[in-house]
Amino acid sequence: MSKQTSILFVGDIVGGIGRRTLLALLPSLRERYAPDFVVANGENAAGGIGITPKIARDLFAAGIDAITLGNHTYRHREVYGYLDEEQRIVRPANFLRSQPGHGWCVVVHNGVRLGVVSISGNLFMNAGRPAFSEVDAVLHALKGEVDHVLVDMHAEATSEKVGMGWYLDGRVTAVVGTHTHVPTADARVLPAGTAYITDVGMTGPRGGVIGVKRELAIQSMVTKMPIRFETSGEDPWLNAVVIGAGDGMRATSIEQVLAPASGVS
Ligand SMILES: [Fe+2]
Ligand SMILES: [Fe+2]
Repeated sequence: MSKQTSILFVGDIVGGIGRRTLLALLPSLRERYAPDFVVANGENAAGGIGITPKIARDLFAAGIDAITLGNHTYRHREVYGYLDEEQRIVRPANFLRSQPGHGWCVVVHNGVRLGVVSISGNLFMNAGRPAFSEVDAVLHALKGEVDHVLVDMHAEATSEKVGMGWYLDGRVTAVVGTHTHVPTADARVLPAGTAYITDVGMTGPRGGVIGVKRELAIQSMVTKMPIRFETSGEDPWLNAVVIGAGDGMRATSIEQVLAPASGVS
């Protein structure tokens, strides 16, 4: 009999408002989708940029199985040691080997082993090594060790993310894009069985500019002068996807979740 697995993947959690949104909505999402795994991108979880050990621990305590990161990984120095110690938090695998942390982990639920991989794009991003050859190396390392693989492709350029989706089609369960904080309308299962979306979006304030208070973001764009950004508190939403999977590293469905968190502030 085939074994069904579902994975809830939550887009970039932005600041305290994003964390509160996730915590407020998670019980109803669990009830509705009964995910076996919950994975969240936490690169903006601490005050809008980066993550701290305390926040990561709080997310794990709330039932998040694994946390992925991105270009803001190293904003808070106190997280460096934690990234080396805690298996369940991953930064892009194609960062330099000398940089703290690791790029993939394996989490297990009911005997199902899920590999969680973080990769950074190279276009307009600061990853030290190429995304495509590195993802091959990671999949080689995971061979035989996992039942499913979810790749968080953290990238600016849609073309690079679409390319990664096609490159990995049939080789991983899902490729989910993050980083732009704006959800795209192209969620689908590719022909060889990989669930794909170019960007999941963010879990945070839709009333700002990709998370930042809009008046500050606009001031920066208008004046071209340095502005201290603050996280917006307006109109929080949760952006996520739910991936259904069967046997043999194949996805059967991907459903977008775009949920307002009324009452969260
Ligand atoms: Fe982000
Ligand atoms: Fe990012």
